[in-house]
Amino acid sequence: MAEWGKHLAGVEGLVLDISGVLYDSGGEGGGVPIPGSIEAVKKIKTSGLKLRFCTNETQATRDKFVGKLQHLGFDIGVDEVTAPAPAACRILKERNLRPHLLIHDDLIPEFADIDRANPNCVVVGDAADNFSYKNLNAAFQVLIGLENPVLISLGRGRYYKETDGLKLDVGAYMKALEYACDIQAEVVGKPAKMFFQSALKEMGIEPHQAIMIGDDIVNDVGGAQHCGMRALQVRTGKYRPCDEHHPEVKADGYVNNLAEAVDVILKQLHK
Ligand SMILES: *[C@@H]1O[C@H](CO)[C@@H](O)[C@H](O)[C@H]1NC(C)=O
Ligand SMILES: *[C@@H]1O[C@H](CO)[C@@H](O)[C@H](O)[C@H]1NC(C)=O
Ligand SMILES: [Mg+2]
Repeated sequence: MAEWGKHLAGVEGLVLDISGVLYDSGGEGGGVPIPGSIEAVKKIKTSGLKLRFCTNETQATRDKFVGKLQHLGFDIGVDEVTAPAPAACRILKERNLRPHLLIHDDLIPEFADIDRANPNCVVVGDAADNFSYKNLNAAFQVLIGLENPVLISLGRGRYYKETDGLKLDVGAYMKALEYACDIQAEVVGKPAKMFFQSALKEMGIEPHQAIMIGDDIVNDVGGAQHCGMRALQVRTGKYRPCDEHHPEVKADGYVNNLAEAVDVILKQLHK
């Protein structure tokens, strides 16, 4: 039995990263499930453990994204997913912020019930083809005209990989606006503490009662641990063997895949 599996007393819920843990994205059909993960999600759901999915995805609404996962065979619902756009909406409401949106057209419906008249902040997401000079400049003009410019960024990735090559991510555009306006963006998404906290809040549990399972050593594992959770790294998705000797982040445990993690956790909890 792996050492980490002996210290699971008090665990009440699991937080799962999606890409690289449940499935690998890209290609026809939008991706392929990682072997054993469809079953693993089912097992968690019948175990009585609380479950939350936590993703960085900002190119599509949760509806569309979750629909794709359901089509791949996963038992997952929109209200079980913590994603940057809804988290940003919560912040906007709490702080009476009215955003100018520089995001992908497909994400706009997530902001349907947010007041966007007379904007007093900018929200930037992975707008892909919608990152035109015109759209970027319009966002700049809103920010530079504000007494206290607020820029909220849905992630800060530099680039990501698609089937036809590497793509510039939101972080590059966020930096352009930061530079032009001499401001610092507020980032919503992993590894921000608040993002994990909002997932825990939805589950109604404390950090020490939750285990995060992800493939990204810094953003999933490090981010969750920073928030007081325990975290396992799966050897799927973007995992690389050198992650196990990362200079700053050490996972509480390493597992071959989600299926193995869930088997160990359930065996221990049912003792
Ligand atoms: C976003 O991009 C799509 C596809 O290129 C385009 O049809 C749409 O008009 C663009 N929207 C904005 C606001 O630029
Ligand atoms: C998720 O977004 C964060 C910024 O919030 C970024 O640093 C990180 O690279 C992204 N993580 C993944 C797993 O894409
Ligand atoms: Mg991932």
